[in-house]
Parts: sequence; C-alpha cells; structure tokens
Amino acid sequence: MMDTSYRQFFALTKEPFGADIPRKDIMVTKALGAMEERIHYTIRMGAIALITGEIGSGKSTSLRYVLGGLHPSEYRIIYVTASSGSILELYRQILSELATDFTSSSRTAMTRKIKEEVLDLTHGKKMKVALIIDEASLLRLEVFTELHTLTQFEQDSKPYLPIILAGQINLVDSLRYRNCLPLANRVVARSHLKGSDLETMEAYLRHHLAIAGVNRMIFDDAAVTAIHQGAGGLFRKANHLARGAIVAAARAESTVVTAENVRLAATELL
Ligand SMILES: Nc1ncnc2c1ncn2[C@@H]1O[C@H](COP(=O)(O)OP(=O)(O)OP(=O)(O)O)[C@@H](O)[C@H]1O
Ligand SMILES: [Mg+2]
Repeated sequence: MMDTSYRQFFALTKEPFGADIPRKDIMVTKALGAMEERIHYTIRMGAIALITGEIGSGKSTSLRYVLGGLHPSEYRIIYVTASSGSILELYRQILSELATDFTSSSRTAMTRKIKEEVLDLTHGKKMKVALIIDEASLLRLEVFTELHTLTQFEQDSKPYLPIILAGQINLVDSLRYRNCLPLANRVVARSHLKGSDLETMEAYLRHHLAIAGVNRMIFDDAAVTAIHQGAGGLFRKANHLARGAIVAAARAESTVVTAENVRLAATELL
C-alpha cells in the first residue's frame, strides 16, 4: 500500500485526488457558483449566510475558492475554524486574526476591541470586512445566542460585519432555537451542498486526473457509477475510493480501473 508504483503505472505526475489542492485547481461546479453568488450578496448586505452540507461535500474547499476571489486590497476576511469552546474562545480566535497584541480576557473588552477593529477597517481603511466561521455546527448554543452582538454597532444601526457560517446541516436546527432568533433573523442566504449527481462525479474524476497530469479517462463507466454510489456523491469519500481503486488496478496491472477495483478499495474504508 505504501509504495507509489501505481503513480508510475498510470503516469500520474503527483498524488491524485489530493485534499489540499491549490485554488486554481478547484472545480467550479454549479453548486459552487450558486454559493459564490450568495456569499457576495450576504457581504454586500452586511448580513448572515449559512453554508451547509454533509461531511466531505466540499464546504471548506468551496469557501476557500470564493474567499480567494475577494481581492485583499478591498476585503478583509476574518477566517476562523470553530471549536466547541465558549464564546470567549471564539472572540480570542477572532482577535488573534485581527490584532495579535491584545491580551485581555474580559468579554466586554474583547467585543469592544473587535468592534473597534472592524470600524477602523470599514471606515478608516474603507475595506469590506467579513467574518467566516467554518465548522460552525460545533459551536455551543450559547455562542449562537451572543454572536449577533458583534454585528451591532452603537454609532449607527448599519451592520458592518457580515458573517458566513459553514457547517453540517444541524447548524440550521441550532439557529431555530428561540434564543438564537436575533442571529437567525439576520440570515439572508443559504447554500446547501448535496452529494453530486453522476454526471458531476464523472467530471470530478476527470478533473482530478487532469490535475495529476492524466488526460485519459482511466475509470470505466461502471467504476464511475460505483464511486458515485459508494461515496453518496460526496467528494472526500470519492477521493478515497478513486485513489484506492487506482492502487488496486495498478496492482492487478490493469490499465483500466473497474468497478471491481472500486469494490476492493471500499473494503478498506470505514
Ligand atoms: N470544488 C472542488 N473541486 C475539487 N475538489 C474538491 C472540490 N470540493 C471538494 N473537493 C475535494 O473534496 C475534499 C473534501 O472537501 P472539503 O474538505 O471542502 O469538504 P467539507 O464539506 O468541508 O468537509 P467537512 O465536513 O469534513 O469539513 C477536498 O479535500 C477536495 O479534495
Ligand atoms: Mg470542512
């Protein structure tokens, strides 16, 4: 398993189906295009967007694509990955993104500092600021009930801090709790990443092969179907199945990857 002879066998110039592909190699699906539009809209509105999807459906990759398209001279993106910690933990993360030298651990001092920084960026530096929280489905309820206070500025009621929350679908349930209404009320756009359809999955497989320098479709039709079904249309699982199937095919010295190779690969996955 550890040897990489399958790469020579299929003339792959790099490890195929990688997790950390550069932005330029991200495949722009219809769903990604729709998400991009909603994120732009939400930032313009200074409101809140929800990005949901199953595990490994491509939420973080899609976010990376959209945010990477926002020019850093115009946009200041505060990107944090949520933890199951307290609201203080989240404030700390935001502050360390904004101002490295802030040490107070008082809730009031922290929110004041965050707002100051946001106001300075929007008014002083004329930038558009947005807070992105990935893995937001991990956040505690108490965090959701307080988060909206960050979007309120005493000076005037115009909200300056749009927030993009990304996570699993239970994020939506959390926001339906009564105490989360102030936050839920500011949601203006939602994007849900479903498992892809068969056609998109085939394009996806071709896309990743091309990234690894292979322009020949090495998966036969039944293999594509097996990957699509086995992965439930989800990209990360598809990566594992596709790579595992390539390894199995190379071991069997077959230049075409078959459904049987996919089935064999599936037995190695949880
Ligand atoms: N648009 C895309 N183009 C190319 N590859 C993609 C794309 N979307 C997802 N992938 C692939 O699928 C993998 C999983 O995607 P990602 O990590 O974004 O999913 P996720 O929904 O954030 O998962 P989790 O729920 O675990 O956070 C990525 O590492 C990447 O290889
Ligand atoms: Mg993710």
